[in-house]
Amino acid sequence: PRRKATAKAINARKGGDPIVCLTAYITPMAARLDEHCDLILVGDSVGMVLYGMDSTVGVSLDMMIAHGRAVTRGAKKALVVIDMPFGTYEESREQAFRNAARVLSETGAGAVKLEGGAEMADTVAFLVKRGIPVLGHVGLMPQSINSYGGYGAHGRTQEEWGPIISDAKAIAEAGAFAIVLEGVAEPLAVKVTGDVPCPIIGIGASNRCDGQILVTEDMLGLFAINPKFVKRYAEIGGDIAAAIETYADEVRTRTFPAEEHTYKMKVVKA
Ligand code: KIV
Ligand code: NA
Repeated sequence: PRRKATAKAINARKGGDPIVCLTAYITPMAARLDEHCDLILVGDSVGMVLYGMDSTVGVSLDMMIAHGRAVTRGAKKALVVIDMPFGTYEESREQAFRNAARVLSETGAGAVKLEGGAEMADTVAFLVKRGIPVLGHVGLMPQSINSYGGYGAHGRTQEEWGPIISDAKAIAEAGAFAIVLEGVAEPLAVKVTGDVPCPIIGIGASNRCDGQILVTEDMLGLFAINPKFVKRYAEIGGDIAAAIETYADEVRTRTFPAEEHTYKMKVVKA
């Protein structure tokens, strides 16, 4: 049986077999992912996917802790990583440590993820030196939607490459065990993966990275937003709609509940 994955073990896989990652917010999903994934991310995408928010900016630390606890209950082997939500780590390295320590101690997860490049390097180093493994996140950073104004790909012209390469290098240098690289053109993903010493986990970043991650609900066809980089491995949304329609029909025609779903009186011996 596989042993519990650690941030250190994931870090050691640079350039090796691709690292398999997906997101989860609830115990039953985590239990299923655990059979196949090296890393399970409790993403702040939870705000959009489960709560109908139109960005991740409104997600709170309490939401991440509640969902983090649900996921660690289901994951026995994969490394569970929890997103630090917007506003809980950017102000100072002390703020970041205080909140990240809460996340790890209250959920039992093995690492946190935070978005940011060179400007967050000092914070990443502060956490890593104090016992908190950090997964970085550069390229497209959804918590900065109010600055970017959109979710389009980055690095599609060579002029955009410099800052993304230096951001990834700075976060690796600070001690991140791996870095998520989101929404970038393939040649930039190749460059970052080649130049940065820790594993690069791609999302919308080609198959040339050290691993891949997707939002599970996206790849299952359960969530409406469908960017170019998402491959749909199932159409669960359609299956759910069809099941609900059948249920409604059967309730209206009294075909549900049927005999086998109905309790009978106990047979009492005279
Ligand atoms: O919040 C999230 O789900 C993420 C992944 C898509 C990388 O950050
Ligand atoms: Na996220």
